[in-house]
Amino acid sequence: MRALLPFMKKYKTFAILSPILMILEVLADIIIPYFMSRIVDIGIANRDVEYIVRIGLIMVGAALLAMTFGILSAHCGARAGYGFAAEIRKKTFNKIQSFSFANLDQFTVSSLITRLTNDCNTIGQVTMMSLRMAVRAPFLALFALIMAFQINASLARVFMIAIPITAIAITIILTKARPLFLMLQTRVDRVNAIIQENLTGIKVVKSFNRQRHEEGRFKQRNDSLKETALEAISLVIFLMPLLNIIVYSTIIAVLWIGGQKVVAGNMGGGELISFITYITQVLMALMMISFFFMQLLRGSASVGRILEVLNTESEIKEIEKPIKEVKDGSISFNHVSFCYPGSTENILNNINLDIKSGEVIGIIGSTGSSKSTLVQLIPRLYDVTEGSVAVGGIDVRDYDIKVLRDQVAFVLQKNTLFLGTIRENMKWGNEDASDEQIINALKQAQAWEFVSKFEDGLEHKVEQGGENFSGGQKQRLSIARSLMKSPKVIILDDSTSAIDMTTDAKIQKTFKEKLGHITTLIIAQRIASIQHADRIIVMHQGHIESIGNHETLLNISSIYREIYESQQKGVVG
Ligand SMILES: Nc1ncnc2c1ncn2[C@@H]1O[C@H](COP(=O)(O)OP(=O)(O)OP(=O)(O)O)[C@@H](O)[C@H]1O
Ligand SMILES: [Mg+2]
Repeated sequence: MRALLPFMKKYKTFAILSPILMILEVLADIIIPYFMSRIVDIGIANRDVEYIVRIGLIMVGAALLAMTFGILSAHCGARAGYGFAAEIRKKTFNKIQSFSFANLDQFTVSSLITRLTNDCNTIGQVTMMSLRMAVRAPFLALFALIMAFQINASLARVFMIAIPITAIAITIILTKARPLFLMLQTRVDRVNAIIQENLTGIKVVKSFNRQRHEEGRFKQRNDSLKETALEAISLVIFLMPLLNIIVYSTIIAVLWIGGQKVVAGNMGGGELISFITYITQVLMALMMISFFFMQLLRGSASVGRILEVLNTESEIKEIEKPIKEVKDGSISFNHVSFCYPGSTENILNNINLDIKSGEVIGIIGSTGSSKSTLVQLIPRLYDVTEGSVAVGGIDVRDYDIKVLRDQVAFVLQKNTLFLGTIRENMKWGNEDASDEQIINALKQAQAWEFVSKFEDGLEHKVEQGGENFSGGQKQRLSIARSLMKSPKVIILDDSTSAIDMTTDAKIQKTFKEKLGHITTLIIAQRIASIQHADRIIVMHQGHIESIGNHETLLNISSIYREIYESQQKGVVG
């Protein structure tokens, strides 16, 4: 918890006020039974109506004060708790934004969502309750004990039996409940994970007719969550009647012993009544403490999971004085090997490659041959395991990351658009772009052709993930978005796979003729998409099998020839 304390700074005042107000409320609560005993023992005993009314009014006043302090304390507690949670959520969200791809592989998206929502909420609630309960319970118990001893010290000895029994009962139940509560958290996670995965892929689920299967998977996890929750709750349910038995037994004992004292004239009847109220307050305070520990348990699991995110350092670090300018679009790989974090197997092996600025490079190879992995190293989406990658003659690790990524535009294989308008999506590449620049980029990516047909043009709505566009349209918009940066290098990772051959050819032509100054890397499955590249790299099982232009490769690379022939057959047959 201490690690998160700095996030409370903004809400410090509320965090301090809440317990102080709570103490005032407790004082008012404590004084009320005392007045009650006065009314019984003096007012009623002497048949003094005026005294009864006077003390009665004071009692009402004390109750009003208790209420006011209670409301104010709850208000401050809520502000501190939820403000604290919002602050943690903000910091965690910002931290996730700084994550590298490797970090994102480590935490799944669904677990990050649970942390940002559930865990932050839990921390907020627990903080709010702790600020109040952690103060209320001990003070209430202490003051009520003092008052009870004041009234009758010998009678107060019942506490010596009642308190240990209550404490033991609570401890036993809590020890049993603890592992259940921890398990509950994991189960909630598992249900969230499946909901997240299923809803993001709901269309795939439907098209594969997997609803039944998914329902089964969901039911199993949902049921085990229910079972654990029931088990945990039934233990807690047990606590309440158990405490009631203890409270009532104590009251009976007090009535029996105290009753004799009252009869003997050693104690007032009113004193006995208020004594019983104090007993109830003390034992209820103990119960509150047990609830508080239970909350703390819930909170500490959440705090742990938030800290796990906050303490994760992005592997992609900037050096002290990063270079702020990329000279040109040349790229070189020197003895590069790479394995994904958490794995031991090298996905790339000793890659050496020199690409001149402005060259158009095609990359082809079977699926899983590490094409994407190779190009991801250029804008430092991942860092090399061995060797080095240089852009413009300088190691990519020496650049300011923002500068590097602005100059090396990457159209990811799994691309996505964001909720908003087409114009807003295009401005991702360049905040201050004019409509003219946007339209120009759209034209170069062959996207203007369909965007210009929309009545609202650039204002046309983009749904979350770009769901309202076809696969090919999305790809063309993604290419246009990358061009907005006016980069020195552009990487298209299978970005024209959903685009028809004719349009694809037009895009390739534009890249060759109009964007000749940009180094272009095109990963493609179709030979037609890269046939006219200056050079083509054939990837095979994590290494470069051969490099050359189309004609050369037909002669020297059996893999290339095989791909070519299979695709030719497709065209002919
Ligand atoms: N994030 C990741 N974590 C661990 N392993 C990965 C990750 N991404 C890819 N791999 C592994 O690296 C290997 C190469 O994958 P890569 O995506 O580079 O292939 P590819 O040539 O781009 O394939 P495709 O043509 O299907 O896009 C694969 O065996 C894959 O299992
Ligand atoms: Mg790929």
